[in-house]
Amino acid sequence: MSPGSIELRGVAVDAQAYRRILGHFLSGVAIVTGMGEEGPAGLAVNSFTAVSLDPPLVAFFPAIRSTSWPRIRAAGRFCANILGHDQEHVCRRFAMSGADKFTGLRWSPSPNGSPLIDGCLAWIDCTLDSEHPAGDHTLALGRVLALHAVPDADHPLAFYRGGYGGFHPTPVSSEAR
Ligand SMILES: Cc1cc2nc3c(=O)[nH]c(=O)nc-3n(C[C@H](O)[C@H](O)[C@H](O)COP(=O)(O)O)c2cc1C
Repeated sequence: MSPGSIELRGVAVDAQAYRRILGHFLSGVAIVTGMGEEGPAGLAVNSFTAVSLDPPLVAFFPAIRSTSWPRIRAAGRFCANILGHDQEHVCRRFAMSGADKFTGLRWSPSPNGSPLIDGCLAWIDCTLDSEHPAGDHTLALGRVLALHAVPDADHPLAFYRGGYGGFHPTPVSSEAR
């Protein structure tokens, strides 16, 4: 197998092709934040998802190499801040490893003390329920404590095939034509 390849059922698959093909799944973007011992921490994720209503659980997949996640994990709680279409610059800021991501950023504490970033469409405040190994990532499950969305929040930031865009709901079913 060549260095940039992974093996799927005994067949070598190019890692770039793997990322490119999986990138066809459209997602939103959330900033997962927490209050570390040395101050606020956060990272951009598109793996955030709802899991369960009863009990209320959400999840995302932090990379093992993330430097922010261990600081958030230590706090035992986090907040998922859902980005709007005009917050691509916030996403880019939180996708940089090691930077001081909060300098000049407007935010306030959530009910459980995690950073709420100004201008987001919604936030979901959690305690860390459990974490499970998942290859070069882990699966982090959060138990929802509080949540909020701004009214009529219909312009999320979308991420698709490595690029950013907007999303406007339009009917696509044949009945709607
Ligand atoms: C759109 C987008 C989605 C991302 N999704 C994830 C993700 O789900 N999990 C993850 O660990 N990193 C994800 N990243 C990469 C992290 O944001 C980035 O590696 C992180 O900020 C590293 O910083 P840290 O070392 O401070 O944790 C994503 C980046 C972008 C731009």
